[in-house]
Amino acid sequence: MSADISIQSNFPLRGLNTFGIDASASAYLKVTSAAMLEAVASDASWASMPRLVLGGGSNLLLTDDFHGLVLHMATSGIELVGEDDDAFYVRAEAGENWHRFVLWTLEHGFPGLENLSLIPGSVGASPIQNIGAYGVELKDRFHSLTAFDLIDKKTFVLDREACGFGYRDSIFKHALRGRAVILDVTFALAKRWQANIRYADVAQELAAGGIHSPSARQISDAVIAVRTRKLPDPAVIGNAGSFFKNPVVSQDARDALLARCPDLVSYAQPDGSFKLAAGWLIDRAGWKGRSLGAAGVYEKQALVLVNRGGAKGGEIAELAAAIQADVQEKFGVALEPEPVFV
Ligand code: FAD
Ligand code: EPU
Repeated sequence: MSADISIQSNFPLRGLNTFGIDASASAYLKVTSAAMLEAVASDASWASMPRLVLGGGSNLLLTDDFHGLVLHMATSGIELVGEDDDAFYVRAEAGENWHRFVLWTLEHGFPGLENLSLIPGSVGASPIQNIGAYGVELKDRFHSLTAFDLIDKKTFVLDREACGFGYRDSIFKHALRGRAVILDVTFALAKRWQANIRYADVAQELAAGGIHSPSARQISDAVIAVRTRKLPDPAVIGNAGSFFKNPVVSQDARDALLARCPDLVSYAQPDGSFKLAAGWLIDRAGWKGRSLGAAGVYEKQALVLVNRGGAKGGEIAELAAAIQADVQEKFGVALEPEPVFV
């Protein structure tokens, strides 16, 4: 199969990453079909270049100019592809905006994704870190995906088991890193829908509005309200959401910390371990609102690093490293960045 690929050189990426980092790519292709990826993979000069698959640019840090080919996913289409007694099966192309897709499912009467409202980025990136918020993770609603292997030049399908989903993790961060381009994702949205309002912030938002048996749309609205209050809008101040994962530690480690800090925020996990609130650790270490050059720690949420204007990717990375070293020294806990460093 051949496709028309017009690759642009020295392409600015500032408007394509939510940190607003001013970097460029030596080559750039807007991908509107799978055939374009096949053409790139089959062309010896492009196939040998470093490649970056780009969605909405909301979970990456450009530490420098990218010396390679950016493949910017811009495919579109959403469709109900089947239904059975249990679920509706809805498929979306990789380039679809995630939040617009969530709203589409709600408008068409397929609830289930409402807790994941307003997460920035694309549908194609949603399995990469198994996006999650307010008590729901992508894996809870995932059916399967189609991907293209840039090395084998083959299209393949993965079910949930094969994706190796974990907390902010999947096979795409490991064995398939750098080679699989997700083309589309299919979701299984249960017909026996149940509201999930276990997350205190969402429950409080609904209760404040006098809503006690919320519809999916009302949960979506509540999630949007909570997120808008707590997280900075990338259109106003550059950021990539949580900059670190919440660290998971043993019960012994958590008990030792709790003895020192009785107000430590931690959550018991099904396997007996504990997730610590990284935002609390960073806040308690005194970083909230601080800046190093143009890189800063958001005033309202210490887990979010921000670009205060003109920050270079390296400055954000330096601030992150300083926070990691300090949290390690003060609490003996290692923080792992969530965004992908490019
Ligand atoms: P990009 O940043 O473009 O890419 C991220 C990674 O995925 C890169 O490694 C890229 O190469 C790869 N990739 C992208 N598309 C594809 C594809 N089609 N095939 C293969 N690889 C691909 N995340 C959460 O989980 N929960 C949240 O609540 C949350 N809140 C956020 C709030 C804000 C304000 C911001 C800015 C970010 C937040 N995030 C959150 C992070 C981010 O929105 C998600 O990780 C999102 O899925 C990233 O999508 P993207 O299209 O922007 O990915
Ligand atoms: N906290 C502080 N100070 C702060 C920030 C947080 O003390 O400055 C404490 C608070 O006690 C709060 C607790 O930390 O109760 C947890 O904070 P929050 O509820 O804001 O959630 P989070 O752990 O910071 C996680 C996800 C978010 C997701 C929300 C809601 C991670 C790394 N982050 O944030 O995801 O939206 O829960 O489910 O798991 C993202 O991944 O980019 C992201 C935004």
